[in-house]
Amino acid sequence: MTQFLGHFHPLLVHLPTGILLFAILLQWLSRNKKHAALQPAIRPALFCGMLGAVASVITGLLLSQNGEYAASALNAHKWLGIAVALTSSFFYFWKRKAPSNKKQNFLAGFLFVLLTSTGHLGGTLTHGEGYLTQHLPFRNWVGEHETARHISDVEEAQVYQDVVVPVLQAKCYVCHGPEKQKGGLRMDVAAEFQKGGKDGAVFIAGRPEASEMLDRISLNLSDDDHMPPEGKPQLTENEIALLRWWIATGASFDQKIKELPKTNEIKSVLASLPLQGSAEKFKSEIPAEKVEPAEALVLQKLRDGGVLVLPLAQGSNYLEASFINADSANDRTIKWLAPLAQQLVSLNLSGTAITDSAGVTLAKLTQLRKLHLQHTGITAAGVRQLQTLAQLQYLNLVGTKVTAESIATLSGLKNLQQLYLYQTSIDAAGLAQLREVFPKAMIEAGGYMVATFLTDTTEVKPPKVP
Ligand code: HEC
Repeated sequence: MTQFLGHFHPLLVHLPTGILLFAILLQWLSRNKKHAALQPAIRPALFCGMLGAVASVITGLLLSQNGEYAASALNAHKWLGIAVALTSSFFYFWKRKAPSNKKQNFLAGFLFVLLTSTGHLGGTLTHGEGYLTQHLPFRNWVGEHETARHISDVEEAQVYQDVVVPVLQAKCYVCHGPEKQKGGLRMDVAAEFQKGGKDGAVFIAGRPEASEMLDRISLNLSDDDHMPPEGKPQLTENEIALLRWWIATGASFDQKIKELPKTNEIKSVLASLPLQGSAEKFKSEIPAEKVEPAEALVLQKLRDGGVLVLPLAQGSNYLEASFINADSANDRTIKWLAPLAQQLVSLNLSGTAITDSAGVTLAKLTQLRKLHLQHTGITAAGVRQLQTLAQLQYLNLVGTKVTAESIATLSGLKNLQQLYLYQTSIDAAGLAQLREVFPKAMIEAGGYMVATFLTDTTEVKPPKVP
């Protein structure tokens, strides 16, 4: 019953707030002779507002007992709410005694401040910190910052801080963070997260199958116990895989990624994480030579086709392009890139329907430094055509049917520094060969024994769009 009454609080508070604001307005208007006739209306307005405020305090106190709210913000809201009830009652009785005392204008001002602060804290309790500014454009300019760090080097990154926290922060902290602890669970403080919720621990190190948290996120969306609840931003498959991997490898709060065992699946998920730091490094390698701006018509056509084309840096004519959101990326549409051969330094075709026929166009893009071809239909024949890309530094061929022999034909690419080959059928011998051909490059292929095995059976996976 108390819980039931408590739930009326969010509904009920708006009424006295409105009435009291109305009474304050009347009070201020009636200072002026012209509106003196409003004076008698103030007292009944204050009376209704006072009753509403007292009812709000009572339901609010009942609601606060469910333990879902952060104690610090709750306390301030509680005492301010009580202050509103007391002040409005005092105001009402004073008004009865002295209907037109000038000092009441100050009391009205004070009540206004109390009301707005109580309301704001209440909003923070229900909607979470920053609820006023979260949809504000350019909110970074008003001093709000992400707390999760960006990963600069996957292997050096910390598994908890750099991989787990960003996921939980984006999808769970609104209800299990500083402002709210639904189900008694707070996840943003490591010690609280380890302690778990009202039903105890939510994860058991090394045992993903026995971890309530994973149970819940894996449940059907329509299930009442599913997390995050229906209608809230959901976890992606990759995010679930990362959380499961973190628990399976011991739910470490301080280890680095390089210290943990990884399956090939996890390696490719990690490789697809935003690599802020390396992107930055890459950007410092913008070609020094000047280049003419690309033709506006060509850019327009690409953008109309859903291709993301951006200058590599402010004021630079060099471009990067990504087809990963373009539905119709195929061997035909990729030909639109040919006129950008001088400007294009980075190209992302990850997960698109392109095949070896795209190789003809790719071969013309001789300024390319970075090329994402993971999970495409590229095979050995397509790779051989890349020999003209003398500037290439980064090549991602994860999840494609390429061969070691075809990649070896790229031996003339002296700038190649990073080569990603997870989920390909390249075996240990092939890898050894490539390491000889590219002695200075970092070649990432995962546990190749498993790779040959896995790809033999799981090749049918649909392409993943990161
Ligand atoms: C919109 C709010 C909301 C979001 C977002 C949310 N949860 Fe919850 N969570 C709840 C509520 C409400 C409960 C308590 C009711 C229940 O037990 O189903 C709960 C309970 C839980 C519990 C059980 C705690 C216990 O001991 O009973 C776990 C585990 C959990 N959530 C995990 C998560 C994870 C992981 C995420 C992010 C992927 C998440 N939640 C996101 C609202 C949310």
